[in-house]
Amino acid sequence: MQGNFFFYNPTKIYFGPDSLNALNAELSNYGQRILLVYGGGSIKKIGLYDEVIKILSNANKSIFELPGVMPNPTLNKLYEGLELARKIQPDLILAVGGGSVIDYAKALSASIYEKDDPWQKFYVRYEEPNTKITPIGAILTMSGTGSEMNGGAVITNEETKEKHGHVFGAELYPRFAILNPLYTMSVPFYQMVAGIYDAFNHLLEQYFSGEDNNNVSDDITLGLLRSIKNNGLLAVKNPQDYIARSNIMWASTLALNTLVGKGKKQDWLVHALGHAISARTNATHGMTLSAISLPYYRHLLKYDVHRFANFAKYVFDIDDSNYSEKERALAGLVAFKEWLVDMHLVTSISALGIKDDMIDEIARECGGKNGYCQFSADELKEILREAL
Ligand code: NZQ
Ligand code: ZN
Repeated sequence: MQGNFFFYNPTKIYFGPDSLNALNAELSNYGQRILLVYGGGSIKKIGLYDEVIKILSNANKSIFELPGVMPNPTLNKLYEGLELARKIQPDLILAVGGGSVIDYAKALSASIYEKDDPWQKFYVRYEEPNTKITPIGAILTMSGTGSEMNGGAVITNEETKEKHGHVFGAELYPRFAILNPLYTMSVPFYQMVAGIYDAFNHLLEQYFSGEDNNNVSDDITLGLLRSIKNNGLLAVKNPQDYIARSNIMWASTLALNTLVGKGKKQDWLVHALGHAISARTNATHGMTLSAISLPYYRHLLKYDVHRFANFAKYVFDIDDSNYSEKERALAGLVAFKEWLVDMHLVTSISALGIKDDMIDEIARECGGKNGYCQFSADELKEILREAL
């Protein structure tokens, strides 16, 4: 491991079919007023809403509801929630849903006692919160983002067509997260595979970076990539496969709880491009990443053949001793492409609504953003055109 790092993750995880049993005891750590934040109604359809209300009522909590958090949660929805939350002043925000609901809960928590505009403070100037934080608990219903065990909170400003993420510190990580793979069984197929690719790409963003070719972060990452690749295929074949879905759920959490990025520079340019695509089209997050990935990684290969060869070997079993390192790396990208197709992922940005005349602007916006090897604006345009 190169350099110095700090690792601290305060989120308590309760995992498995009985994990909701932990909620009652957790509630005793917080005051009376609970703000229940959720999405468009899937939690009602699967019966989870009723179960949660029952547990909150039996614990004699005062329940306030903030429903309707949409995928790619918007700034206007944040303003709407803030009006309510400022009146209620909750003791705990209980976020029940996918990444959008949990991200939203974090942005809300950071902003309740903040006088400044949250977009300007957290999403333009990227300042840290310096007012009271309301603790968050999470009940996760969809695998992918890792929001259940990190500080990420992505918000879309529809007016300016910008989608930005703020990575908050540990005080905004969920204090506890309940992960029951059974809740994810009702996730629509399109969302399921998008979530699987989101987690896969989080690992790629952390793996393809750095000069250190022998570090434990990469070794863990390759194992998680392999697990998501294999269990993703099992889930596509049979979405009700509990073992596959539970492996995907835990691997997705581990993919972005900051562990595997330790000692690494990290990339995140695929995510910057994905957010720029999503800001213009409201496309599903994971699909924006799969749509850009093949051309992106084809361009990246020349900067890091060794790492690509290991990706081919440990994730896709490409281990032919007659191959040169470069041949192995290239064969890995072919296998990666086949996997994207087998997973029914979107592999073109035009399929998501991006048109040729948007490309220059996206390349300008993302050029110089993070980026392991800082592609020039011209190379970014090439990547985007190849992804059309
Ligand atoms: O709104 P409801 O009715 O709940 O339906 C949701 C939504 O339509 C549905 N869904 C979720 N669980 C379900 C279900 N439907 C049936 N049964 C269930 N059990 O799925 C749809 C998508 O949900 P959403 O929460 O939007 O998906 P996801 O978890 O992929 O979250 C995406 C958001 O997270 C951000 C993305 O940018 C995007 O805004 N990200 C957050 C990150 C973080 N916090 O670190 C990192 C990621 O890279 C990502 O940027
Ligand atoms: Zn992501």
